[in-house]
Amino acid sequence: MKIYFPNKSSSNLSKKMLIQPIFVDQRLKVKKKIKGLGNNYSWTQSTITKAIETDLKKGITNFLLFIVPTDKQKLPEDFSFHYDVIHNLKKKFKKDITLLIDTCLCSITPDGHCGISHKKKIDLKQTHYALGLAANTYLEAGADIIAPSDMMKNTTRYLRKIFNENGFHQSQIMSYSTKFKSGFYGPFRDAANSSPKGFDRSSYQLPVTDRNKAINSSIINAAQGANYLMVKPGMTSIDLIADIKRETLLPTGAYQVSGEFASLQLLEANKLGKYIDLLNESLNVFSRAKADFIITYGARDIVKYL
Ligand code: PBG
Repeated sequence: MKIYFPNKSSSNLSKKMLIQPIFVDQRLKVKKKIKGLGNNYSWTQSTITKAIETDLKKGITNFLLFIVPTDKQKLPEDFSFHYDVIHNLKKKFKKDITLLIDTCLCSITPDGHCGISHKKKIDLKQTHYALGLAANTYLEAGADIIAPSDMMKNTTRYLRKIFNENGFHQSQIMSYSTKFKSGFYGPFRDAANSSPKGFDRSSYQLPVTDRNKAINSSIINAAQGANYLMVKPGMTSIDLIADIKRETLLPTGAYQVSGEFASLQLLEANKLGKYIDLLNESLNVFSRAKADFIITYGARDIVKYL
């Protein structure tokens, strides 16, 4: 198949702007398909290398890594599995890959929340402390970009402060800066073992109904020291990208999240559409909307057409 882009295209979709999410799950002995997400698997620590090699051959160089440890921790402080995974990957692939690490507590806390909570309320101080330990460990292991997705108040400021204190002055932060409470995260939570229990995420994720608050959230993260901003879910936030860029002058991307991506797969599975065409269409719309980068579970499928 050849996809034709007219010369006067407002879309600049290219390989370099794509980021492929990848999952490493300590509980697994063999790779496991992620329900709803087509060509996406949860990998073991030993099989992830092969997966990245295959993607690299296709021309994918940017990866957003989600690490799912076996043990839950009430007060997370042991990130040794995370360290090993990151360290091994960067030792092997060095500068051939840009490795972004999702930095959140939801795969590790017993209640699946993105922070440490007591009596259905997040303890911000304890949460920042644990996120700081995590992020520091990832940088020591060789991570290229830290991507906090917890959506707690002032996480970016806290991380920037401890990076400076620890000599990581040049380290980069991609903030999930405008992230909504959403029903589109379903397949992901399955894979990340991170469904929230006891209360939902509305005390820390944004309501879709408030546009100013949504843009302001990115402005605040920019002011606190983020290098890259992002909207999520991407398809339902398409109207925000250009405004956030204009306000912050920072590179701003979109995350086509698991439920959005799964819907393209489901259309095909039900013979109501063609997955690769739907993917191509949606990614070109992100580019037309001025996204500087796109995180999509379809990166490894679309790349051969670019
Ligand atoms: C965790 C996190 C989530 C996603 C990325 N990081 C889920 C959530 O906030 O509940 C969603 C990604 C996806 O659905 O593809 N903080």
